[in-house]
Amino acid sequence: MSALTVPLSGPLRGQTTVPGDKSLSHRALLLAAIASGPSRVEHFLPAGDCQATLRVVRALGIRVEERSPTSLIVHGQGLHGPQEPEEVLHCSRSGTTMRLLAGLLAGQPFLSILSGDPQLLRRPMGRIVAPLQNMGATVLGRENDRLPPLVLRGGLLRGIDYALPVASAQLKSALLLAGLYAEGATTLREPGPARDHTEQMLAAMGARLVVGPRDGRSGARTLRIEPASELQALDMVVPGDFSSAAFLLAAAALVPGSEVTIQGVGVNPTRTGLLDLLRGMGAAVTLEGERLAGGEPVADLTVRASELRPVEVDGTMVVRAIDELPLLAVLATQALGETTLREAAELRVKETDRIATTVQELRRLGAQIEARADGFVVRGPTPLRSPTVAVDSHGDHRLAMALAIAGLIAEGETRVQNVACVADSYPGFAEALRRLGAQVYSG
Ligand code: S3P
Repeated sequence: MSALTVPLSGPLRGQTTVPGDKSLSHRALLLAAIASGPSRVEHFLPAGDCQATLRVVRALGIRVEERSPTSLIVHGQGLHGPQEPEEVLHCSRSGTTMRLLAGLLAGQPFLSILSGDPQLLRRPMGRIVAPLQNMGATVLGRENDRLPPLVLRGGLLRGIDYALPVASAQLKSALLLAGLYAEGATTLREPGPARDHTEQMLAAMGARLVVGPRDGRSGARTLRIEPASELQALDMVVPGDFSSAAFLLAAAALVPGSEVTIQGVGVNPTRTGLLDLLRGMGAAVTLEGERLAGGEPVADLTVRASELRPVEVDGTMVVRAIDELPLLAVLATQALGETTLREAAELRVKETDRIATTVQELRRLGAQIEARADGFVVRGPTPLRSPTVAVDSHGDHRLAMALAIAGLIAEGETRVQNVACVADSYPGFAEALRRLGAQVYSG
C-alpha cells in the first residue's frame, strides 16, 4: 500500500497539461473496435481503467497497435468483428469498462463473462441488466442479476422505448451500443444531462442517431438510435481530462497566492459543473482559446486563489459535477458559510460510498462536514490540520486525490495512504503537483 505525503503548501504557480480524458479514451477504444477499418487514437489515457478496456478489446480478438502508451491504432473489423473470448473479461476496477462492454456484447452472438476487482464486484449492474434483458439479450449476474460477474449471451436484439431511472452516461452508452445491433429503433429518455460523449462520437462515425432538445430545467432529453450496418473508423486526439484538471484547479483556488493554467482541457458542458461551482464560490476562473479537438470543445483554464463563498448544489449540477463532488467538499471547508449538497445519492454507488468515505476522511482533517442520505453539509471556513495517523483513500482514486488537495492547505504534513489507485485515472498526479511547486512526495 503506497502513500503520499503532502506538506502545507506555498503558492502553486505555472502552466501544465493533463493526461487524456478517461471517458473519451474508453469510448474511442470500444467504438473503434467495432468500426470498419483502422482508427487512430492519440493522447489516449494510459491509466488503469483504460488499460482494462484495452486488454478486454484485445481479448475479443481486435488487434490494437500501441505506437506509444498514448498513441494507438485500433484495427476494427466491423460491428461483428469481436470474437468469443476464451477467458473471463477482467474489467479491473472500471465501471465504465464493464457497463459499456455489456451493451456492446449484448449484440454479439457468443458467450462472455465480465468480472473485475472486489471493488467493482460491489457496484450495481441491475440498471444495465434489466433493459438489456428487455432488448432480448441473455444477461445474468449475482444476487438476482444485480451484481457482477455478469454472464452474457448476446444475439438478435429488439429496440425498446426506455426511460432511464438514473441520469447515468454509462447506462445510456450501454443501451446506445446495444441499439446499434437491435431490430428497430431504440428510444432512450434520459432524466438529466449525463455526459454526451458516446452520442457525439457515434454521430461522427455515421450512426443514425436523433438527439432531441434538452428540457431547460431538468436537462432531460430523448435519444433515438437506429440499427447500424457499419460505423466509420475515427481519428481522434483525446482532449485533456477535465476531471483530472479539476484537482489542480481546486488546488489553485485553495492555496493562497496561487495561479495555475491548464492547457487543452476538455470543456464539454456536461462535464464542467465544477467550473461553474468554482465561479459561484467566487474563485477567479478564466477560459481561453476555446477550440475543437476530437469533436469536443477544449480550452485553456486558469484559476487564481481567492476567498470562497458557500454554494448550494443539487439537480443538474450534481450530474455535471458528479466525479468532482468529493473535491467540492474540500473546497467547501474553506468557504465562509454552509455548503449543501443534495440529490446526490448516486455518490453512494461509485468506487466507494463517496458520501461516507469523504465525510469520514475529511473529518479526520478537522473539517466540519456531516453526511446526509443524498449528500453532505459542510460548514466553513475551518483550518484543516493533518492527523497523527494517515488519512485513507479506501482504494478510491478520486478520494485519494481530493485528500491530497486537502493536505496542501492542512497544517503539518498529511499522509494519504492507499494511493496506488490514483493511477486508475491520473498517472502523474503527484508529479503535476510538484511541477506547480507543491512539495509532495511518496512514502
Ligand atoms: C462515466 C460516467 C459517470 C462517471 C464515471 C465515468 C462515463 O458514471 O461517474 O466516472 O465515462 O460514462 P455514471 O454514468 O454511472 O453516472
